[in-house]
Amino acid sequence: MNYSEYSVVIIGSGAAGLYAALKISSQIHLPEGILLITKDKLGESNSKYAQGGIVGVVHQNPEDNTESHVNDTLKAGAGLTDRNVTELISKTSDKVINDLINIGVEFDKNSKGELNFTLEAAHSIKRILHSGGDATGREITKALAKRVTEDSTITVSENTMAVELLISTDKKCKGVIVFNKATGEHQVVYSSAVIIATGGAGQIYKYTTNPEGATGDGVALAYEAGADIQDMEFIQFHPTALALSPDNKNRFLISEAVRGEGAKLINKSGEEFMVRYSDKRELAPRDVVTRAIYSEMKKENSYNVFLNAAVIEKLKLFERFPNISKRCRDNGIDISEKPIPVAPAAHYTMGGIKADINGKTSITGLYAIGEAASTGLHGANRLASNSLLECVVCAYELADYLSFTNLEVPKKIDEGIKKMIDVYSHSISSDEYDCKTLISKLKELMWNKVGIIRTETGLTEAKNAIEELKNNFKRRRKCLNEMEYEYRNMLTTALIITNSALSRKESRGAHCRSDFTQTDTIASHTNVNKNKDMIHA
Ligand code: FAD
Ligand code: SIN
Repeated sequence: MNYSEYSVVIIGSGAAGLYAALKISSQIHLPEGILLITKDKLGESNSKYAQGGIVGVVHQNPEDNTESHVNDTLKAGAGLTDRNVTELISKTSDKVINDLINIGVEFDKNSKGELNFTLEAAHSIKRILHSGGDATGREITKALAKRVTEDSTITVSENTMAVELLISTDKKCKGVIVFNKATGEHQVVYSSAVIIATGGAGQIYKYTTNPEGATGDGVALAYEAGADIQDMEFIQFHPTALALSPDNKNRFLISEAVRGEGAKLINKSGEEFMVRYSDKRELAPRDVVTRAIYSEMKKENSYNVFLNAAVIEKLKLFERFPNISKRCRDNGIDISEKPIPVAPAAHYTMGGIKADINGKTSITGLYAIGEAASTGLHGANRLASNSLLECVVCAYELADYLSFTNLEVPKKIDEGIKKMIDVYSHSISSDEYDCKTLISKLKELMWNKVGIIRTETGLTEAKNAIEELKNNFKRRRKCLNEMEYEYRNMLTTALIITNSALSRKESRGAHCRSDFTQTDTIASHTNVNKNKDMIHA
């Protein structure tokens, strides 16, 4: 086993992890430096595929203000959004967005050279900044990753997966065990601050907009370490992912911004059906649009509806959405002429590791930011484009918090940690599990029983089935390869989602129970902790 020491370890290289690395490096002198580990190539993440944009309540847009943004966020969050957190994130957006611009992110501008703001569902005014038309995430991660690779205090370790957090007997996080995908070796990294920025868990579902790496690793690791996990039943299903066939499972997103620019949803009969579901029609909150589409698909026994973008002026359409137009064209669809087949897909994990605005979790030394965290911003239903903003604001606040924290690397390693490390020094059976098949089974189960519409019976069936899969998979800790680790983590995270959904006996935001159609008057969070019973806070 190899051992190394870093003042700070960051797990994940999406917007949250990359920006945290840069801010920590620029604010704090760290004798032992920063290690940024990431499962794939640097920047490969959900962030990279973000299309619509990032919320910016910025001085360049005098028509906007914090109050309006906070109200929109609270309304979408269906009673579970934390007002203080939202206010802070909204107020900090001007500073952070302008910092991104200084770092090199080029947000799109109009012909006068002013920032271009667009509209997305449930925002009361145009406040979304975008880049590269519909490639905001690619442009942000590219600029951040470039700076990270130029920074000599940040060591980047690609193809490296965090597999277990080192927790001392007095319940403090002292580092992490990592798995090198290329060599198959494990390594121990000691650190006094471990930051989880591992993103979401969309891959737990059969249909998703998320890339392959979004397997809920951070939540599973934190749960196993004894951290509080909050509101995991709230999975956001994006209404409009490109649905070419039932077999096309990793789905390309057709951004909400296309509806923001005027595109209309139509069913098989060509009817603009949203008028029957909401007076906000195509720009109703995401959960409302998703359920409307789901209902139309059921009624028409179809695996998709259509998005008619041909109503948008052709030149504007191609200029504003170059990547969406190209991807559709590559699949034989000219979006200025033909409607796009779309269907909902798992998109965003609203719950996560319970963390405050500084990323502090219930375990000392363990921090969580970005999609892996649950700060209370998103409540039961995330407002579009709030998540990239949350990533960068929380990374910024965390760097500030750490600048007042003792970041000396732990010198004395206790018995608890020695025992943990010992597990990874011993070999395990070389019999490989057929994880590809097992993962498909889990995804199907989650889609059918823990998906857009849920019932007690379906959720109980899912819980029993996941528990059985878990019992049959004997690798609780050390695994043979990446896929086994991912399957191990997916089972844990899927069970947390299912248990949380079972415990929420109401419909709220993205959590829709056909057997509990009411929303309780008092909103409460679900909390899961390995060492305690499930509680409602
Ligand atoms: P991610 O960007 O997902 O990064 C997670 C990182 O952790 C990755 O590098 C991953 O490889 C790594 N990782 C995971 N597990 C491990 C492990 N065990 N060990 C090591 N590394 C690990 N939000 C918006 O605000 N606006 C948008 O327009 C928008 N569009 C979107 C479009 C798509 C298609 C998708 C999928 C999401 C979109 N979102 C959007 C949501 C937003 O992109 C994400 O919520 C946000 O980018 C999450 O950033 P993050 O840094 O927390 O996680
Ligand atoms: C989109 O572009 O529709 C996605 C925006 C988001 O997920 O915030």
